[in-house]
Amino acid sequence: MHLSKLFCIVAVTASTLSATFCVLPLAAQSSELAATPPMGWNSWNHFAERVTDADVRASADIIVSSGMRDAGYIYVNIDDTWEAERDAQGVLHTNSKFPDMKALADYVHSKGLKLGIYSSPGPKTCGGYAGSYQHEEQDAKMYADWGIDYLKYDLCSLGPILDKESNGDRAKYFELEKAAYDKMHKALVATGRPIVYSLCQYGFDNVWEWGTQVGGNLWRTTGDINDTYDRMSVIGFQQSGLGKYAAPGHWNDPDMLEVGNGKMSFDEYRTHMTLWVILAAPLLAGNDLSKMTPETLATLTNHDVVAVDQDKLGMQGYRVSSVGPLEIWEKPLSGGAKAVALFNRGESVSPITLDLKAVGFKQGAKVHDLWSGKDVMATGGSFTATVPSHGAVLVKITK
Ligand code: GLA
Repeated sequence: MHLSKLFCIVAVTASTLSATFCVLPLAAQSSELAATPPMGWNSWNHFAERVTDADVRASADIIVSSGMRDAGYIYVNIDDTWEAERDAQGVLHTNSKFPDMKALADYVHSKGLKLGIYSSPGPKTCGGYAGSYQHEEQDAKMYADWGIDYLKYDLCSLGPILDKESNGDRAKYFELEKAAYDKMHKALVATGRPIVYSLCQYGFDNVWEWGTQVGGNLWRTTGDINDTYDRMSVIGFQQSGLGKYAAPGHWNDPDMLEVGNGKMSFDEYRTHMTLWVILAAPLLAGNDLSKMTPETLATLTNHDVVAVDQDKLGMQGYRVSSVGPLEIWEKPLSGGAKAVALFNRGESVSPITLDLKAVGFKQGAKVHDLWSGKDVMATGGSFTATVPSHGAVLVKITK
């Protein structure tokens, strides 16, 4: 994609940031990058600041040997803390944990995978490392030279700068914020390398309404997840209603997966995965792959469950009903089918009955349980599942 194909729609300038917004024609964007929600692995949730080149290589190896790559987990994403300082020419160097980023990219590519990296539009990342502020083109070019395929761009230290520059003027803050994201987008496009662009500013300023305008293929819709049922469920269950902003090429991102990190139960991780696939969320595993149990691998790679997330229609699911702690969500799939999830957010096991009419099907529709792999008898046009506390059932319904 070349700059000549961009449409520039607004022009404002500020002292340090240009606010000229250029929008790619939607059809062109959609078909090229992130046609389905990105899938892969990211270093942050398990390794945080400890991640090294060796950890990334080992993770790439396991993504292949475990079957995760074949299940769709393609992006291997280095999060914060790979950065050292800039030299006199402004070139950002890697720190001793990442001695040779190009060699690492070559290694990851040799495995049939793609490499992602992380930066900030501010001078410092959230971990206090060097960000891309005023070095956007230089950094984007370096990423492309290394062979980077994905950039997570995290607001961090830009916030206070924008506060100062906008001096309490919310509209101005917002324009500058968009300009900062657009600036890196243009820099990435100018490299000529397809690089998935992941906006991370925690869902402020209704980013879902403008993420596409600044070239985002995905945008975080919330603050950080952690490995607890409370945090995961607060984030996940508040996503209903954002579906109109998701489409092939552009996804709401309720943050990375915690599946397998150890602090949730089997049923809670199943709920996490079920909810994320219903949401057409990016699926970025965040666990220590070297210690992955067969149970975690099965949760992450169930073919039929992942297929719900990756359905080519690209529709995000939504809540159909809630009665106390019991919720029913649906996600339309291509070919007229639907994925329907039954969630029990309560503290005790509970039956949940699904009336097929409530999700748009008639008696006689075929119901298949995607986690168990078994057909479900819906005699009389409904069925009742026994759903564990904090658990979920996921079915696919076809006419
Ligand atoms: C922020 C992001 C996280 C992670 C850290 C890294 O908190 O939201 O996902 O990238 O920064 O410092």
